[in-house]
Amino acid sequence: MLAMNYRGPYRVRADHMPEPRIEHPGDAIVRVTRSCICGSDLHLFHGLVPDTRVGSTFGHEFCGVVEEVGPAVRNLKVGDAVLVPFNIFCGTCWFCERELYSNCHNVNPEATAVGGIYGYSHTTGGYAGGQAERVRVPMADIGPTVIPEDISLDDAVLLTDAFPTGYQAAEMGDIRENDTVVVFGAGPVGIFAAKSAWLLGAGRVIVVDEVDYRLDFVRRFAHCETVNFRDVRDMAVHLKKMTDGLGPDVCIDAVGAEASGSALQRLTGVHLMLQAGAATVLHWAINSVRKGGTVSIVGVYGPTFNAVPIGNALNKGLTLRMNQASVKRHLPRLIEHVRAGRVKPSEVITHRIPLEHVADAYHIFSSKLDGCIKTVLTMPSAR
Ligand SMILES: NC(=O)c1ccc[n+]([C@@H]2O[C@H](COP(=O)([O-])OP(=O)(O)OC[C@H]3O[C@@H](n4cnc5c(N)ncnc54)[C@H](O)[C@@H]3O)[C@@H](O)[C@H]2O)c1
Ligand SMILES: [Zn+2]
Ligand SMILES: [Zn+2]
Repeated sequence: MLAMNYRGPYRVRADHMPEPRIEHPGDAIVRVTRSCICGSDLHLFHGLVPDTRVGSTFGHEFCGVVEEVGPAVRNLKVGDAVLVPFNIFCGTCWFCERELYSNCHNVNPEATAVGGIYGYSHTTGGYAGGQAERVRVPMADIGPTVIPEDISLDDAVLLTDAFPTGYQAAEMGDIRENDTVVVFGAGPVGIFAAKSAWLLGAGRVIVVDEVDYRLDFVRRFAHCETVNFRDVRDMAVHLKKMTDGLGPDVCIDAVGAEASGSALQRLTGVHLMLQAGAATVLHWAINSVRKGGTVSIVGVYGPTFNAVPIGNALNKGLTLRMNQASVKRHLPRLIEHVRAGRVKPSEVITHRIPLEHVADAYHIFSSKLDGCIKTVLTMPSAR
């Protein structure tokens, strides 16, 4: 089958790779119909995620059709159209019982902090990803959700990662009625976090980025205010001036380890790897948010450490919340929002690129060319 093949930093291509097969009785094989590239894939693509092995296939944001099921699978049958949350999880461990699916304890033999993720290096279990014609779906009774008939495939695929992650970012912000919420990052995750902030009762939403076409898009999509950080000298001062001097109630980091905006952070966090990514947005968020406020982090950082102003966070009495999203937990509510027409997730899709041209797709998304926000890779078998 055709699949994305990682050859080293900044080098990916489509190759003929071995077909996945049922390895455990609870597995299914899914023929992929839509597969996106996520901002998290860029961290892999740029060679920043430990233990990303040459020859691996990325892709954790996909939907498809069940082609084969193992003998123990009860909830899925051949022919079902499914959306597959990016987390792989068992559904029964201490963490899954508390709906912390991204922290499942039974699916990642390589690390204890994070659970399993499709196509996301051996640090998250070494599972093959969905930027391929077919993919093995472990614990198939637990993760996948049959796509309701009234939800389009383009909307469904965005329910596997970008929308639920943005929603969880807003939820972890503990937004109260009329709160002012600042979202750093106008990529798909930040865009959905801004939209979700309104759903959770925000009174004002401000999105910060440096890419004007993304700021234009989020203003239209989420009816928010925007700030281009290239126009701002001091982010904390600027945001406080915008918010009666006290600062926003909630700050959301939807950027993560590859943030731009500080030469020192880029040097120490990205180029020299002296910390687990540039902590620029962590500084901006902690220093901007009002005393007693909440900083919610979904932007991804590496497993070692970052130099962050923890003393400021302590003295300001902040609540810091963060996690990989637990997608499945949010699906019932988000499907209702899509049905009710409050959110049309597929509006963020700007590009459809054949899997054969996966190298171009990564280049366009990574370099923010051609107005790119979200790319769907299309499979030869689904055209
Ligand atoms: N926690 C999770 O479960 C989860 C899930 C999906 C994605 N993520 C992470 O969320 C982050 C965003 O994902 P995405 O798909 O939207 O990625 P993306 O790369 O499309 O978007 C990131 C945006 O941040 C902007 N940016 C860079 N530096 C900034 C700064 N200092 N301030 C404000 N904006 C800045 C970029 O211009 C870009 O528009 C990534 O780190 C990704 O790994 C986490
Ligand atoms: Zn992702
Ligand atoms: Zn579990």
